[in-house]
Amino acid sequence: MKLLGPSVTVALLAYAIYSWGTFIYHNAIVFGFLRTNPMSTFVQAEDIQYIPDTVHCEDLHYHAPSKTLFTACEDYPETRFQWFPPLTNFNDSSILKTYHGSLHVIDPETKKSQRLTVDNFDGPFITHGIEVLTNPEQPNAVYIYAVNHLPNPAHVIAIQPPPADVPKARSQIELFHHVIGTTTATHLRSIWHPLIRTPNDLVATSPTSLYVTNDHLYRDHGPMRFMEDMYAKAEWTDVIHLQFSLEAPSTPAETDAVAGVTAHVALDKFHNANGLGHGRYENEVAIASAASGVLSISELPSSPLSKSSMITVLNRIEFGSTIDNPSYFSDPYAGTADGVDHSGFVVAGLGKAHTLAQTRKQPEAKDPVMVWFAKPVKQEENGNVIWEKRLLFEDDGTRIRSASAAVLVAIDPEKERGKRKAWLFVTGFVSSSVVAVKVDL
Ligand SMILES: *[C@@H]1O[C@H](CO)[C@@H](O)[C@H](O)[C@H]1NC(C)=O
Repeated sequence: MKLLGPSVTVALLAYAIYSWGTFIYHNAIVFGFLRTNPMSTFVQAEDIQYIPDTVHCEDLHYHAPSKTLFTACEDYPETRFQWFPPLTNFNDSSILKTYHGSLHVIDPETKKSQRLTVDNFDGPFITHGIEVLTNPEQPNAVYIYAVNHLPNPAHVIAIQPPPADVPKARSQIELFHHVIGTTTATHLRSIWHPLIRTPNDLVATSPTSLYVTNDHLYRDHGPMRFMEDMYAKAEWTDVIHLQFSLEAPSTPAETDAVAGVTAHVALDKFHNANGLGHGRYENEVAIASAASGVLSISELPSSPLSKSSMITVLNRIEFGSTIDNPSYFSDPYAGTADGVDHSGFVVAGLGKAHTLAQTRKQPEAKDPVMVWFAKPVKQEENGNVIWEKRLLFEDDGTRIRSASAAVLVAIDPEKERGKRKAWLFVTGFVSSSVVAVKVDL
């Protein structure tokens, strides 16, 4: 082998230091290693409200037509710390025999939460991402899709410990139907396919068409999972597209979850695909690489059912923390009062994600939060979009512990003497309640 000249060696070394330095610096920021004293946004007492009975609700959706918020909550404070596969908490699944999560409807005006009772479904419900879609044939009703992180029956039944490669969880998706204004939902069916491995968040494009993120390749705690989180080039996750029938199978048995379900990979080689949300127009979605702190603004294929149709990433927005479920705020008062359109993407994340490996098992710990607002300010000639990013809310983990979703609900400027304000609802996978904070847009 020919030896490299000294200048080439120096250049290579400099490049290695530069690229690793950039990588380490980026991770130090996103994982919050440099954030020794997490900040807490000052909020007047009358501008913050804690919503009762919203324990450990990971996701939050604003359904504009009914002016209602939807979420799925774990409800019982201990469940998450004993059994929550996304946090690699697999200590004790027997808790699921007694405690089940539930769907909630929150009125953004009264800040009250209503649990929905569900017909036709009384199994364990280990809640995570949800999606809410207006029923095209019944505009006063919605379909609700929800991830359910069930234990793998192969693990629960086994008397001998099963082989290490048998996953501990066998997560699926539950499909419900809910008439707006009622306190009930009907379970229509469960949905499972082998491509659903570590489901996190959902976007529906029709009642029978759903995109799902798988957030990790490595399902359990250990060096490979650590590497997968820390290394942005560990592009090992995907987004899958599911198509299924709406009809409830006649007996709600486990095998019925696969009936009439087809799936294909719609985006692969993606780092830590996590939150998935609708964007500015019908075919736009935002996909969060949680551990990279990057939101990919992407376009769905026009014919999702074709096995070769893929999602196209168009733009990337980088944030200074880990990020989770994105939501798009469509400003209903755009152009009024101050003449400005305040629409933009809202993303919630962790201020000190590097401590999550310890705090995930600690009911008393705090996880600081950062909630960001990104507005498009300019599109360059090459199609690249310049985003203005602003921190809407920060907390050291006292007022809210962890943040995985946040949505803005605009306040009529006439009620705020012409000022543009909104209620920001923030929730987390281990937050003891959804918090509502009045913010300036
Ligand atoms: C794990 O589960 C066992 C059995 O229920 C329980 O005794 C123990 O306290 C749990 N450990 C933690 C860290 O919660």
